[in-house]
Amino acid sequence: MRNFHIGVTVAVLWAASSQGVLAQDQAKEGEAIFKRTCAVCHTTEPGKNKIGPSLAGIVGSKSAEVPGFSFSDAMKKAGLTWDEATLDKYITDPKAVVPGNKMIFAGLKKPEERAAVIDYLKTQG
Ligand code: HEC
Repeated sequence: MRNFHIGVTVAVLWAASSQGVLAQDQAKEGEAIFKRTCAVCHTTEPGKNKIGPSLAGIVGSKSAEVPGFSFSDAMKKAGLTWDEATLDKYITDPKAVVPGNKMIFAGLKKPEERAAVIDYLKTQG
């Protein structure tokens, strides 16, 4: 019985730590995708806007609130919260989610690439 408990504990710990590693790998992968596809227009440094607003702390924040960035009227009126599901939809097809917004980006079509980018953005508080 005692051995059984130890076995279960080890299995649970193993599962938890391997998931942690997976999430880290995914964030790294997301960083590479971010650099390739978003970094022409965005940084993840607070206050550093380029063609697009800084995406520091974007996950969970409200749309069009990054200081010092001139958002389109469409984005100002969108009233979105950038939770993971909304971000996922937006980067799939920005103009479908916020018609008339000025992010000229065709969209990331692969769900696993979007998930990786969002995981990366979550690490960029
Ligand atoms: C060609 C430049 C460009 C590329 C590439 C681009 N963006 Fe954008 N992004 C913008 C612009 C410009 C805006 C502001 C839109 C507006 O005001 O209508 C924006 C807005 C956003 C917003 C909303 C920010 C807010 O504060 O409401 C998010 C989130 C976002 N982009 C994420 C991404 C991600 C993630 C990628 C890569 C997968 C990406 N963008 C690629 C230019 C770009």
